[in-house]
Amino acid sequence: MDAREVAKHASASSCWVVIHDNVYDVTDYLGEHPGGQALLLKLAGADATSEYTKVHSTTTVQETLPHSKHLGPLDDSTRQHLRCITKPKPKATTKTASSNMSGPPPLALCVRLADFEPIARAAISRQAYTYISSAADTLQSHHDNLAQWASVSFVPRVLRNVALANMDTSTSMLGQPCALPFFIAATGLAGLTHPEGERALAAAAASRGIHYSPSTYSSIPHKEVAELHRAAQKQSCLPSTLFFQLYVHHDRAKTVQLIRDARAAGYAGLFVTVDTPCVGNRDEDRRLKAEDQLAFGPPPAKTTKVVAGSNSGQLARNMTWDDLPWIRNAWGHDHGRPLALKGIQSAADAKLAADSGLVDAIYLSNHGGRQLHSAPPCLATLLRIRRECPDVLDKCEVFVDGGCLRGGDILKAVCLGAKAVGIGRPLLYALGAYGMAGVVHAIDILKNELETTLALLGVTSPAQLNSSYINVAKLARDIDGLDGIFGNSKL
Ligand code: HEM
Ligand SMILES: Cc1cc2nc3c(=O)[nH]c(=O)nc-3n(C[C@H](O)[C@H](O)[C@H](O)COP(=O)(O)O)c2cc1C
Repeated sequence: MDAREVAKHASASSCWVVIHDNVYDVTDYLGEHPGGQALLLKLAGADATSEYTKVHSTTTVQETLPHSKHLGPLDDSTRQHLRCITKPKPKATTKTASSNMSGPPPLALCVRLADFEPIARAAISRQAYTYISSAADTLQSHHDNLAQWASVSFVPRVLRNVALANMDTSTSMLGQPCALPFFIAATGLAGLTHPEGERALAAAAASRGIHYSPSTYSSIPHKEVAELHRAAQKQSCLPSTLFFQLYVHHDRAKTVQLIRDARAAGYAGLFVTVDTPCVGNRDEDRRLKAEDQLAFGPPPAKTTKVVAGSNSGQLARNMTWDDLPWIRNAWGHDHGRPLALKGIQSAADAKLAADSGLVDAIYLSNHGGRQLHSAPPCLATLLRIRRECPDVLDKCEVFVDGGCLRGGDILKAVCLGAKAVGIGRPLLYALGAYGMAGVVHAIDILKNELETTLALLGVTSPAQLNSSYINVAKLARDIDGLDGIFGNSKL
């Protein structure tokens, strides 16, 4: 394909882009692109490869567009005729932790997870910051997530031997040992935040002996994440593994292929996300896309059947409990490959999952408050499970996430029966601010806080914790609005 021809298709009525030396017609896809049409229109008639590879895996384009939209290879001898794109002014460089006034503060000055957010905000693009920070509607679910941890207090024991030599923070998830009771939660498109993206998250997890759950929407191929992780894990010699996070695509064949590829790549478990039949209503994402629409005009009418900004066009909205058996089969559950449901938000669903016998773990999460407005935070769901169907905790492992910023708070979830806590945004901010070094430092901060809290609680390992080490009266009051009626006695 001659570049002069490509350059002619630089508008919403006919939009072609070049990705990895191949020409694609994305006109019909403009209104469907979850990242919005403007990102594609800015690159119309031009080589989109460098922008595309920051965010997407090499295979996304083939997996997403119909075969007919691949117009063929670019004739390289004509490349100089492609439309030139004006690059946005780069932000002040922040890649290294120097004391330079224009860069970020030295990494050592980040002493708690919350310190990373403002530094990342200054370092990363508005688009990346919006993607990470946005949450549903008024952000209430997200704020409730942050607040929940303060609604549980500890009941420490004293005069116990907590000598350093006795301390052991290790635990396991789905039979896979790990050094600490927390893991890196699934977050899509990490490459948007930092060029090291998923590579940094995988290497950081391996270097510190924690697990990582790469997203279906990884910026790099899942196989590459697994290979990088394996190499880093060999070096660290610490236990660490990958749990593949699955978004079920409306095209079952695509989902089966995705699962089989993850299995072949060596992922140790499958986290099936069940809280996303469509993408939540995120105001800031919509504002960004609305601004882009003002600049570029609305997408062509024929492409607006799927709401721009929502990847519901790809997700299986019709998924039910009846889909679990074929997902299990594709994953090879009968051959001992474990599976968890991510996004359980009620005791009723926790019980259904546990009683089904189809899953090994439930993962209580409201998706970082990004899906349902006014969704319950994970500790509230966990408390409800303990009161309404405590047998769930005997049948399944329980993982939780949402708003956790402190090592000590992780242990509150463990006291309530959780095996491990997922950390999402804070590690992305650490990544955006300092790359892999930031993620490793953030993990170390959590580890130190966690070790200190264990000692102050009078125990030497998370395994010794149980509900006698916490007071949930306030959390129970928050849930019931009934002062004290459901105190610890109802645990
Ligand atoms: C033909 C080219 C492209 C295709 C087929 C495509 C496809 C997709 C798909 C399927 C998603 C959903 C998540 C995923 O599967 O990874 C997505 C999300 C996204 N894409 Fe693209 N994309 C293309 C080009 C680009 C480019 C060039 C950029 C940036 C410069 C971009 C930025 C984004 C962003 C920011 C999201 C996340 C949206 C959100 O969830 O808020 N995409 N894209
Ligand atoms: C930027 C971002 C992207 C996310 N992408 C995914 C995803 O691809 N799949 C998924 O199951 N959950 C995703 N989540 C939800 C996280 O897995 C996790 O549930 C949540 O971030 C935990 O809350 P926290 O960010 O407050 O720690 C995402 C969260 C964020 C912040």
